[in-house]
This record gives sequence, structure tokens and C-alpha cells, in this order.
Amino acid sequence: MSIKGRVVTLRAIEREDLPLLHKWANDNEINAMIGGWHFPSGMNDQQKWFETLNLNSLNQRYAIDVPDFGLVGTANLVEINWKDKNAHHGMTLGNRDARGKGYAVDTIMAIMRFAFEELGLNRLDTTIIEYNASSLGVYTKKCGWNIEGTQKRWYFRQNKYWDRHIVGITREQYFDLVNKNNYWHEQ
Ligand SMILES: CC(C)(COP(=O)(O)OP(=O)(O)OC[C@H]1O[C@@H](n2cnc3c(N)ncnc32)[C@H](O)[C@@H]1OP(=O)(O)O)[C@@H](O)C(=O)NCCC(=O)NCCS
Repeated sequence: MSIKGRVVTLRAIEREDLPLLHKWANDNEINAMIGGWHFPSGMNDQQKWFETLNLNSLNQRYAIDVPDFGLVGTANLVEINWKDKNAHHGMTLGNRDARGKGYAVDTIMAIMRFAFEELGLNRLDTTIIEYNASSLGVYTKKCGWNIEGTQKRWYFRQNKYWDRHIVGITREQYFDLVNKNNYWHEQ
């Protein structure tokens, strides 16, 4: 199976995707914007990471595929908590040419539809570094997420500490959004 947005397809990551994922994993601009961090990583690390992907894992990772470009980035649904019915989500468009075309919004909408309408989750969370204006814009202005709190000086980047916004959405807020913007009916 795959998870469909209006345009994007979220599908399983395949071995053929690894060269592009490896390139994006070592992209300094992307690394400055995302929450996680790692040392410079080789193709060997990428392959080892690939071997850890598992259908039964509570940490699911998807390739974002679009018709015009093919693989453009990755999205995840991780720390899936079946008891409390929540999960953490993150995404990256590694291909800069694919940005500004609505693919991020479509990816987040597709993740939300899957999480809320198929998995029956109750809320999703993400975390965003204070200077990541495009990510804050996509989630809060376009996709109905809210800044629910801010952890002061959580990240250390470029010799400075930066705040971490806790950003989330509940299933009620998702249904309010799609009832208002008619996202799935205006295709
Ligand atoms: C964040 C990211 C996913 C956004 O992708 P994108 O292709 O720009 O997003 P989309 O085209 O789907 O959405 C565009 C909307 O996002 C918002 N947006 C984008 N850039 C923005 C900015 N600099 N300031 C405010 N809002 C912004 C706007 O609402 C915009 O809609 P508009 O053009 O109608 O105003 C992409 O820039 C990226 O992958 N960056 C590097 C990794 C990253 O930051 N990942 C997220 C970690 S939390």
C-alpha cells in the first residue's frame, strides 16, 4: 500500500532511494532546519539505517514521491503510541526545486488523513526550531497545527541556543480544518 495526498504518494523507502537520502542526510542547510542531528554519515551508515526499517516498527518512515520529480523527500510517523493514541511526525523536502509547490502541505495532509482516518490516532506532534519560518508557516498557517508550548534554548546551533516550539494537532482540529478547507473534495 501507499499513502496518497492530492499529488504526493508516501511509499516505503527502497534501496534505490539511498543515494539521494545519503546526499540529503549530509546537506548542511537541511541539518540546520531539522530537530535531529548526527555526525557526517557515509553510505555505509545509510545502508545500516535502511536495514533497521521494519514493517512492524512503531517508527515508520516514508519516501515522498511526486509525478514531476520522483523522490523529493521523506516523511515519518514515529513514536506511535497505541495506548494514548498519538505519534510524532516530521518531514523534509530534500530536493530544493520541489519546494514552494504545495508538496509539503499535501504531505502533511496525507499523513494526517492516514493517522486520523485510518489509524484512529487522536493527536500528532512535531517540534520546530524557532528560526524555521517555512516549517512553522506550513504547519500552523496551512495545516491547522498550533504552537502549544515553547522550550527555551533547547537547540544548540552556530554557537547559540535556540528555542524549540512544540507544535501539534488533535483529530478534532484536523476534521475542523478539512470541513472548512474542503481539502479532500477540491481535487
Ligand atoms: C519546511 C518545508 C518542508 C516547506 O516546504 P515547501 O515546499 O516550502 O512548502 P509548501 O509549498 O507545501 O507550502 C507553502 C506554504 O508554507 C508556508 N511557508 C513556506 N515558506 C514560508 C516562510 N518562509 N515563511 C512563512 N510561511 C512559509 C506558507 O504558508 C506557504 O504557503 P503560501 O505560499 O500560500 O504562502 C521545506 O522548506 C523543507 O523541507 N525544508 C528543509 C527541512 C525542514 O525544515 N523540515 C521541517 C523540519 S520541522
